[in-house]
This record gives sequence, C-alpha cells and structure tokens, in this order.
Amino acid sequence: MSSSQRMVLVLGGAGTVGSGIVKSLLEKGFHVAVISRDKARLEKLKSFVPASCKEKLHTLVGDVGSEEGAQEAATALVNQVGKVTDVVSSLGFSWWQGGPPHTQSLQELQRVLDTLLLSTFTAWKAFFPLVKDNPNGTYTFITGGAGERLLMPGTGFLTLGAAGALAFSQVVREEYPDVTCKLNELKINMGVATPERLGPGYVSHLEVGDAVSSLVEKRQVSHTVLCANSTADLKTLILEGKL
Ligand SMILES: NC(=O)c1ccc[n+]([C@@H]2O[C@H](COP(=O)([O-])OP(=O)(O)OC[C@H]3O[C@@H](n4cnc5c(N)ncnc54)[C@H](OP(=O)(O)O)[C@@H]3O)[C@@H](O)[C@H]2O)c1
Repeated sequence: MSSSQRMVLVLGGAGTVGSGIVKSLLEKGFHVAVISRDKARLEKLKSFVPASCKEKLHTLVGDVGSEEGAQEAATALVNQVGKVTDVVSSLGFSWWQGGPPHTQSLQELQRVLDTLLLSTFTAWKAFFPLVKDNPNGTYTFITGGAGERLLMPGTGFLTLGAAGALAFSQVVREEYPDVTCKLNELKINMGVATPERLGPGYVSHLEVGDAVSSLVEKRQVSHTVLCANSTADLKTLILEGKL
C-alpha cells in the first residue's frame, strides 16, 4: 500500500512534536488528519506545512480527552476522511515545572494526568479499533524519558503523567500481543523543540518527524519500544525504520 493510499491520524498533531510528524508525513505523500481543541492552532498548522501538501491535510476541531469527546471525534473524522489506516498518538504537553509535590494540589495532579495519561487512554479507546485489524496499519505512541526520572527539581508531576503514558503503552503491547497492525512506541529521551528554539539537549521536531514518518512508512517492527537517545538514533530510524 503506497503512502498516498494511507490516512494517518496524528493525535496532538498541532503540538511541538506532532507538527514535525505531520509535516514529514505530508512530504512523504501520506494523507494526514489532525484533531485539536483549538481552531487557531489548526490554522497555524496549515500555514506551517508546505503549500504543495495542503490539500492532503485534514483538520477537525475536537476534544479527545473524554470517552464521549473521543468517540464523537472518531465518528466525525471517519465521516470527513473515510478510512483511517494509521494513528500516531502524541498527546500531552511539552513541559511542566510547577514545583515539588507538597506545594501542589490534587486538582493540578488531576489536570496533568488528564493531559498526559487519560487523553492517551480515551483517544486509544476510540481510535485503536479503526486500525487494529489492518495488516497494513500502525498505531504509534510517542513518549518521553521524563516518565523514568525527575528531569529537574519541581518537575515531579510531569514524571507522574509521563510514567503513566509509558506504562499505558506497555499495557497495550502486552494485552494485545497478536494484534494485526504494527503497534510501537517511540520514547524520546531528549527535549524536542522547533528549530528556532533549540538548546542543549534538544533535537528538532523536524528530525523527530522524519523518524516517526519512516517508522510509519516502513512498518519494520511491532510491539517494540524504540528509544531515541541521540540524533544518531533518529538518523538510523529515518534510514531503516527501526533501531
Ligand atoms: N517536547 C518535548 O521536549 C518532548 C520530549 C520527549 C517526549 N515528548 C512527548 O511528546 C508528546 C507531545 O509533546 P509536545 O511537546 O508536542 O506537547 P504540545 O506541544 O503541548 O502538544 C501536545 C498536543 O496534545 C494535544 N492534546 C492534549 N490533550 C488533548 C485533548 N484532550 N484533545 C485533543 N488534543 C489534545 C494538544 O492539542 P490542542 O491543540 O488541542 O491543545 C497539543 O497539540 C508528549 O507525550 C510528551 O511527553 C515531548
């Protein structure tokens, strides 16, 4: 199946990591769909992708952070674009550094878990059925190393949310060992930023996008956690679709 016959839903596609993935997929000839809660972010995404690819980008306003919202978005998406062949789940947020746990409220923890973990679950529940039985399909979770350690003082809730997303991806791999689609996780152990905001320890969202689009395109592996620790790892992924 060629990329022009595939429709990739990028959840979080209007975000930092997601927008790099969307751009790269479009440049490879995929059709791409993006759901965002914010129409303005979708407009910004449209102006970010190359003009020549714009007609292959399909956008939808929706909130996948509840079971009802995600199901509503799934129904609207299928009505708008037809068959979805692939999903990349890049939900969450770039950074949280609200302070150590004793300074935080339960409400703030709930908000962080909603954004990083619960939306990953509600979106998966609504969109996994669209691709799971497709031998040419893929479902890819984007996670980060923040789930394995405290990145710096005051980032504890980020660790809790990111750890939940890591664990959820593991649970799905182990609960569905025989699923037909390729089911993978790219764990990025580096900061990701746009080229103009790169700093030490950060990689460009464009490189990450090329790595993810290659993983989706080549479908080399399944039930695998691909750990990107360096730009060399991203280059290997771009070339080979695996590590
Ligand atoms: N940035 C990094 O340095 C980095 C490094 C390693 C791993 N990661 C991982 O990459 C993922 C994405 O991070 P990011 O930096 O791209 O964050 P981001 O720029 O904040 O983007 C996250 C996206 O998630 C979407 N989202 C969250 N909840 C949603 C909901 N209920 N319904 C619809 N969309 C929802 C947001 O959509 P809206 O448009 O609706 O706001 C936003 O576009 C995270 O899981 C993070 O752990 C990031």
